[in-house]
Amino acid sequence: MPVDAFGDYTTIVVFGASGDLAKKKTFPALFGLYREGHLPKTIQIIGYARSKLTDEDFKSRISQHFKGGNDQIKQEFLNLCTYISDPYDTDEGYNKLRQACEDYESKHKVSVPNRLFYLALPPSVFTIVCKQLKKLVYSQKTRIIVEKPFGHDLASARELQKDLAPLFTEDELYRIDHYLGKEMVKNLLVVRFGNTLFGGVWNRNNISSVHISFKEAFGTEGRGGYFDSIGIVRDVMQNHLLQVLTLLTMERPVSFDPEAVRDEKVKVLKAMAPIDTEDLLLGQYVKSEDGTKPGYLDDDTVKPDSKCVTYAAIKCEIHNERWEGVPIIMRAGKALQESKVEIRIQFKPVARGMFKEISRNELVLRIQPNEAIYLKVNNKIPGISTETSLTDLDLNYSTRYSKDFWIPEAYEALIRDCYLGNHSNFVRDDELDESWKLFTPLLEHIENPNSNINLVKYPYGAKNPKGLRAYLERHNYVFDEPGSYQWPMINTNVKGKI
Ligand code: BG6
Repeated sequence: MPVDAFGDYTTIVVFGASGDLAKKKTFPALFGLYREGHLPKTIQIIGYARSKLTDEDFKSRISQHFKGGNDQIKQEFLNLCTYISDPYDTDEGYNKLRQACEDYESKHKVSVPNRLFYLALPPSVFTIVCKQLKKLVYSQKTRIIVEKPFGHDLASARELQKDLAPLFTEDELYRIDHYLGKEMVKNLLVVRFGNTLFGGVWNRNNISSVHISFKEAFGTEGRGGYFDSIGIVRDVMQNHLLQVLTLLTMERPVSFDPEAVRDEKVKVLKAMAPIDTEDLLLGQYVKSEDGTKPGYLDDDTVKPDSKCVTYAAIKCEIHNERWEGVPIIMRAGKALQESKVEIRIQFKPVARGMFKEISRNELVLRIQPNEAIYLKVNNKIPGISTETSLTDLDLNYSTRYSKDFWIPEAYEALIRDCYLGNHSNFVRDDELDESWKLFTPLLEHIENPNSNINLVKYPYGAKNPKGLRAYLERHNYVFDEPGSYQWPMINTNVKGKI
């Protein structure tokens, strides 16, 4: 156990305990950790929210989303949980909370209380809860997990930071970006820096373009009101995809030490060029072609003439020796044909001469669903033929690792990290500031009514918005000949092609 790990007698308090995030992510993650033996059986868990719920209502609400485990272990876990329902802005509830912590700590003779607060709260109550916490429930060993949004733009993020800084040290804050808890994202440092093969080619001499792509097969159903003032750029690009980008492009940290890793992320963010607002592909989904799925504007909770962006492709550039001239394309969209998040690194072509036509190597890291890494390589078609075909070196987790291997959910991994006092996979203040510096001008451009942005309308369920292929080709991406390659390989014919 790391020296800074919280011990067997820890109180975990989840604020916003009756909300959707807590119900669908936080409590199931706590349960998952407990089920796998990664949380002591002696901790206490307290939910805190304004909604009037009995302990029983609360427990039945949170347990709906528990996965795995039998009834006995679920019950054991629920026995550790209680609920406090009180306002966020008066002392009453916090006094009850402090009392609950103190009773538990004195019962177990804890000298320095370990208290972990998980704030699954809307921005409107965030600062007041932090102030009340500091005033009434703070202990010398406090950790606070903070959920996005960390501001709406650079100015508001700095404002928030200004409010938080006098209350908690950076060391006490754990800003969560759940993409940093995803298995394949955590694996990026190992793949890059643990393999001479990849380390050696990870630069502009060999790579022609990098793509980070996020697709969701569902729209904003039920969340339109929230999403309308957010848009896809703020929702997943400024945070999740940018985190992936920094891990993918930063220099080698001196060690796995959290500050060493975060220092390198900040450096690469500082080397990024402003995002070119003339070089974007923006879209908004409309009704599906068969008319069964609603368009974005069909949602009553969004402005009828909303220009909210539900699809965006942007080009990032890094001005340093490693990446100068390599387009790094980030793209994200809601209501597309499938849900998939992946990274594609396309390499430069080999010299011609020997080969008239030969495909490029491409490394694909599939973040979800079904983690996989595969490298597209050229190979001679077996037999008397001298022709080549594009095939792959394939590391598909579902076939390579045993089925009962436990891959933690992102929230499980991150809560555990916080419990252990490991900051590596949390967002540091300067990192956040740099990310907003980069994205605020882009957001201002997109959201300025005078910008007259061109919003491509794409039907719900489309593969991509029109214009994406040309956009990618303009940025160095070369598509395979149709039918020449498919992953995973199924039904290979004699020529080794699909
Ligand atoms: C959230 C966004 O942060 O991330 C959602 O607010 C998005 O809109 C979600 O759907 C994606 O997370 P995941 O883990 O489902 O890929």
